[in-house]
Amino acid sequence: MEKWNRRTFLKNGTKGTLGMLTLAVVPISLTACNNEETIDTSSLAKLGLLDDIKKGPFPKKINYSTTIKDAWVEQKREGFVYVNVDPENANNLLIMSPVCTHLGCIAGEVSDDEKSESSKELTFYCPCHGGEYDEFGINIGGPPPRPLDIFQPIIQNNEVYIPVLSSTERT
Ligand code: FES
Repeated sequence: MEKWNRRTFLKNGTKGTLGMLTLAVVPISLTACNNEETIDTSSLAKLGLLDDIKKGPFPKKINYSTTIKDAWVEQKREGFVYVNVDPENANNLLIMSPVCTHLGCIAGEVSDDEKSESSKELTFYCPCHGGEYDEFGINIGGPPPRPLDIFQPIIQNNEVYIPVLSSTERT
């Protein structure tokens, strides 16, 4: 049996540290490089099959439930996103966070019955201070300073994932 002393501790401790660094770095680079490669999904939430998500009607709400693993910490996250077809490129999906860009309340869906004659565009409404967004998450009324944030989807084996902890601001 190997006897532990300062030298073996440093030797084994260094191996362990390098191992942890490698694990911490690999998923980020693979995710950023290529959606076709095998990715580490431990910091992502799965939304479902791309073929299903691409089917209308739009906009639609998709719930997710995931456990984010960061080193030895696990965190359960449940939430939802709104999905629509990108008005600038019909081949892309717009995956929007429901978090209001004013002060962070959750914007809910407005039913057709609730839409008034004057606000046909109104699709998502934040009840906290009256924030209004259209079907593409563009702020059209109230205090929100910018559109709903979006998630950059990552696709693997026809499954759509999003990095739930890092949405992207639109201007
Ligand atoms: Fe949504 Fe203020 S937090 S309008």
